[in-house]
Amino acid sequence: MKKMLVLIFIMLLTACSSTSRESGHMGGGMGSDNLMRTLHHAEIPAPYAGIQSPIEADFASIERGKEIYRISCAECHGEGGMGDGQTGKLLNPSPAFIAHSSQMTADGYLFWRISEGGAEFGTGMPAFKDKLEENEIWDAINYVRALGRDESYDPEFERAHHQSMVDNAIEEEFIDKEQADNFMLVHEALNTYMAENDIRAGAKSVDEMQPEIFAALVEIGTLTQEEVDSFNDVHQLLLDEGLMQ
Ligand code: HEC
Repeated sequence: MKKMLVLIFIMLLTACSSTSRESGHMGGGMGSDNLMRTLHHAEIPAPYAGIQSPIEADFASIERGKEIYRISCAECHGEGGMGDGQTGKLLNPSPAFIAHSSQMTADGYLFWRISEGGAEFGTGMPAFKDKLEENEIWDAINYVRALGRDESYDPEFERAHHQSMVDNAIEEEFIDKEQADNFMLVHEALNTYMAENDIRAGAKSVDEMQPEIFAALVEIGTLTQEEVDSFNDVHQLLLDEGLMQ
């Protein structure tokens, strides 16, 4: 436990010392991109690490989650989970764009963050472990994930966000145009494969599933190993340089 706190502290320090390049995309206050990145890559503490939702995301659960979300979450995270609720607008860092980030992160991560809140990271995210039953938290998670898959959610938004990220990286001369184009191409192949095979974050986050998916894409000949390697290099670089969550 102590080791983990030290680790998080170091990660936060690193995050704070590199805020100067922040471009502050949608929903992000100054430096909040870096905080999100740190949190998304933080080690999930016991007893939350590796847990899997016991509640299937069926219609009934999503309906229950919708009601919980409306009462307890929407004022900050916004009706559509875009981080733009009335109270949320006053917060720094601003409430996460959870309709999106819940698609990427593992069950254990979401359950941890909702149960324990953001006090230990100095954010306004409340802890819900004494306010909601565990099954209510899982219902809320099912609802938030459903929000991000809703037809009203525009995949163009994500694409545009990634494009501006690699454009920034070219401008800063971290990568060249060829690497940027490859990054976009591989990302697209990843998204398509996940959609076609109905692969979603669950017990594992998308980051954790990525190596297996890439192996499959190379196997079926959609991508070459070189394209995947270049993608992974750029991905790591964008993370290291604070250009990506
Ligand atoms: C008072 C405002 C507020 C309320 C109410 C609130 N949140 Fe949050 N939430 C935040 C803020 C601010 C963050 C970003 C900082 C952080 O991650 O700690 C956040 C972060 C999160 C995260 C982490 C997302 C990520 O990408 O890392 C999840 C999950 C989450 N909230 C879910 C919920 C759910 C579900 C509810 C309702 C049960 C809720 N929140 C209620 C303010 C709020």
